[in-house]
Amino acid sequence: MEVIICPNAKRVGEVAAAKAARIAAPIGAKVVLGVATGSSPVQTFTELARLANAGELDLSEASAFALDEYVGIAKGHPESYHEIIRKTVTEPMGLDPARVHVPNGFADDLPAACVAYEEAIKAAGGVDIQFLGVGSNGHIGFNEPTSSLSSRTRIKTLAARTREDNARFFDSIDQVPRHCLTQGLGTIMDARHVILVATGPGKAHAIAQVVEGPITAMYPGSVLQLHQHATIVVDEEAAAELSLVDYYKQTYANLPDWQRLDV
Ligand code: F6R
Repeated sequence: MEVIICPNAKRVGEVAAAKAARIAAPIGAKVVLGVATGSSPVQTFTELARLANAGELDLSEASAFALDEYVGIAKGHPESYHEIIRKTVTEPMGLDPARVHVPNGFADDLPAACVAYEEAIKAAGGVDIQFLGVGSNGHIGFNEPTSSLSSRTRIKTLAARTREDNARFFDSIDQVPRHCLTQGLGTIMDARHVILVATGPGKAHAIAQVVEGPITAMYPGSVLQLHQHATIVVDEEAAAELSLVDYYKQTYANLPDWQRLDV
């Protein structure tokens, strides 16, 4: 795992986007992005859009696959992930909407929608760069604690803590859906590169468990320790419970020239 500690949230977005641009360059215009919703990746996506619009990153034929979607919220609902991905990814990055995919949480046959989603990812050649946030309980996607470490896209019940955390996006907690469709941990692990971003003190415990704790379904993000190309970009607050902060900082400060990010 590569752990990069940044002074603030803005820098987290810039570094994560620079890392993604570095990975995307040799892949070219047809890069396949895996995209998350929530607060964490917003600055990263803003910066990616800036790079794309400045001609520094070619996303002209890029595809995107969202991690998850609530069940039972219509596509046009402002909190549906279809809508959020449209506003934070598709439009700012200028992606062709036909190439942007979100699980269908409104399908009559939800298990079939999950199978179709896995097939669509496969048909696109797999995800090149998967962006992730992390829940305060260590979830990635909506793979809540005790999720199978090899799970595929499926229906999950949201943990009480996740519903409480996401209540800020709704008028009341009663409106937060109880179920979702989410890429599995096995699906996420198939991505060729993974970039997880986290900011703020509310993520400090989860980040320490994900990066330095045991690999356990109790902190699903810890499965990323088994990924060959996982980069974790955090601010000082989210890094606060890591024990090897000095090591991560020294490593980043002393990267060889060829690995250095131009930010
Ligand atoms: C969202 C997702 C979740 C969030 C996580 C953190 O698509 O898959 O895992 O990344 O809940 O959410 P924020 O960034 O809002 O703290």
